[in-house]
Amino acid sequence: MLQTLTIALSKGRIFKESLPLLKAADIVPVDDPDTSRKLILDTNQTNIKLVIIRAADVPTYVRFGAADLGIVGKDVLMEFEGDGLYELVDLKIARCRMMVAEPETLAKNDDLGRWSRLRIATKYVNIARRFFSAKGIQTEIIKLYGSMELAPLAGLSDRIVDLVDTGNTLRANKLVEVEHIADISSRLVANTASMRMKHQIVKDVVKQIEQAVG
Ligand code: ATP
Ligand code: PRP
Repeated sequence: MLQTLTIALSKGRIFKESLPLLKAADIVPVDDPDTSRKLILDTNQTNIKLVIIRAADVPTYVRFGAADLGIVGKDVLMEFEGDGLYELVDLKIARCRMMVAEPETLAKNDDLGRWSRLRIATKYVNIARRFFSAKGIQTEIIKLYGSMELAPLAGLSDRIVDLVDTGNTLRANKLVEVEHIADISSRLVANTASMRMKHQIVKDVVKQIEQAVG
């Protein structure tokens, strides 16, 4: 019997950058999630579907087996609390870095060795908490859902933990990078049960994607 496969991913950057990798595994979506309102996309293969969800929901879908495979940023995986999924391949797409940043004016006289009781605004509360507590630095972490760069400008926090790629967003808001937390790229993850129960199709698709990454 033909095995079915569901792959979870988010629209926008990850969807676009995943297309060539999926194509290498002969998986071509029929619709474009940026123009279609469909959340389940058919592909050229009748037994393979893509589900389009928020980036932060991908680990949850995969963990509970609602998707067999997922494509998700390492930032989201690091922030996710839970097991039940395997990280299989570094897809080397959507690359950026997780950084601590602060206003240029603060950086001029800042002494990182003397950091204590920092107020940090971020979407990544678990990552930030782990990073600073490993350094023995006390923090007050303020959870935000986006536009972290605004927080120091508005006086909400002293510093932020956020993703940086070109650095354009930081520069435009007179912020500078002061600490590197992690290099980020997207990963192919799999549900542990799907790896056993759908071994053949998972193995084939993963192998073809892996080869396309190079
Ligand atoms: P949502 O689906 O909730 O809108 P999101 O806003 O985080 O999530 P994207 O901005 O498309 O979605 O980011 C998806 C992933 O791409 C992130 O989890 C991260 O791994 C990576 N990413 C984010 N910003 C950048 C960037 N500026 N350059 C490269 N990769 C990035
Ligand atoms: C991400 C991130 C930064 C920006 C960094 O936001 O949160 O704000 O990219 O990229 P840069 O260094 O190249 O400027 P994104 O563009 O995904 O916006 P969003 O989080 O609001 O979706």
